[in-house]
Amino acid sequence: MSLHIGARREDVAPKVLLPGDPLRARFIAREFLEDAVEVNAVRGMYGYTGTYRGERVTVQGTGMGMPSMAIYATELMREYGVRTLIRVGTCGAFLPEVRLRDVVLAQGASTDSNMNRLHFRGIDYAPLADFSLLYAAYRTARRLALPVHVGGVFTTDRFYGDADKEAYEKKLAEHGTLCVEMETAALYTIAKAYGARALSILTVSDHLVTREETTAEERERTFTAMIRLALETLVS
Ligand code: ADE
Repeated sequence: MSLHIGARREDVAPKVLLPGDPLRARFIAREFLEDAVEVNAVRGMYGYTGTYRGERVTVQGTGMGMPSMAIYATELMREYGVRTLIRVGTCGAFLPEVRLRDVVLAQGASTDSNMNRLHFRGIDYAPLADFSLLYAAYRTARRLALPVHVGGVFTTDRFYGDADKEAYEKKLAEHGTLCVEMETAALYTIAKAYGARALSILTVSDHLVTREETTAEERERTFTAMIRLALETLVS
């Protein structure tokens, strides 16, 4: 057991899928894994371990935002020896060519969070995806004929912003940033610190240029395609 995860060490697999929403973790375990058992329920942040294509996989909720992601990612690597982590989540698109329901593979993550500045004593560290996972996910997405983009994302501490946030998001978009979400910069930084591999796979749930949003039914469908992509990548 760790502080926020009630599982025994042997109940967590070395390969983990990380949805933000713990109820998504339950959905993934029920719909995609074989012989899935609940391994964590502390604070309702459910975790399950089962098999996918015969390989042991854990799916663990992380909650929203970098601090919450940092807690679960750190404990999974430090206390449970997890070596491969794939976040599955949603993002808001910044660029017209990134459309609603498309898949984004986060190559790197800019951030307005102070977490990494504190960690690196003011230096702007560049959080990057593990290349082997990124490459495998890209090839798998093409094989599954999913509309996929690879590039930088923006990890924000503020879901609800102001004119100031809109101004720097515009600047980030002008510098090729594909979309905004809230966890990747923490995941990538901490994974590197533990010598583990990490990737964020995101689907576009809302568009900051066109103001479109997906319906609940569309989110379900695109989420399913993303989970398949993430699991295929995890066991590749
Ligand atoms: N996740 C999905 N859409 C988002 C948005 N617009 N901002 C931050 N995180 C998000």
